[in-house]
Amino acid sequence: MRQFRKVDFFLIEVQHGLDTMLHQFLGRHISPGKSRINPELTPTEIKVSQGCMRVNHTGEVCAQALYRGQALATGNAELKSHLHQAATEEVDHLLWCHERLNELNTKVSYLNPIWYTFSFLLGYLSAKKNDSLSLGFVEETEKQVLEHLQNHQQFLSPQDHKSRAIISVMQEDEARHAKNAHALGAVELSSLMKSIMKVQARVMIQLAYVI
Ligand SMILES: [Fe+2]
Ligand SMILES: [Fe+2]
Repeated sequence: MRQFRKVDFFLIEVQHGLDTMLHQFLGRHISPGKSRINPELTPTEIKVSQGCMRVNHTGEVCAQALYRGQALATGNAELKSHLHQAATEEVDHLLWCHERLNELNTKVSYLNPIWYTFSFLLGYLSAKKNDSLSLGFVEETEKQVLEHLQNHQQFLSPQDHKSRAIISVMQEDEARHAKNAHALGAVELSSLMKSIMKVQARVMIQLAYVI
């Protein structure tokens, strides 16, 4: 049987990054927003929904990159397959947010390739250090995403039932992902590391909201 070389794994990850940018995945579940009916939104309400869903979409791009970077670096076969599975589960979120952005007639963030690369390296380097640190990043990331999703529920128009339905299911899923990472042995990150992640997330949110 042909042995995979490092360059093969690298090329597989480049392909996954491109597939993420181009949404070349099959979803497992239909978007929770699909069955909801919205009344006509005002231009201001649409602008807020566009910004929030663009931020959420970028968050899902980062989730793909983080999980794939960690999976590539870990030497633990069981953890590697768990991380690949987790990335597959996050595909639904990525596709739902993308679909909603299309419905709202707006684009994904132009900076997604940069955020993907940054998150991939973060996942790769933390998992190279040790698995529990890498799981600590997952747990903290999922918790911070959860906070942002709660904030978005406050910003969004009560009339935007479609975006709200998507965010609501994502909240449940992200809470489960944080719990899974904890159960697999995540260490608690230092408060300095948490603060750095919060600042980085804030920069990402501010930028993704507009471009
Ligand atoms: Fe997600
Ligand atoms: Fe998640």
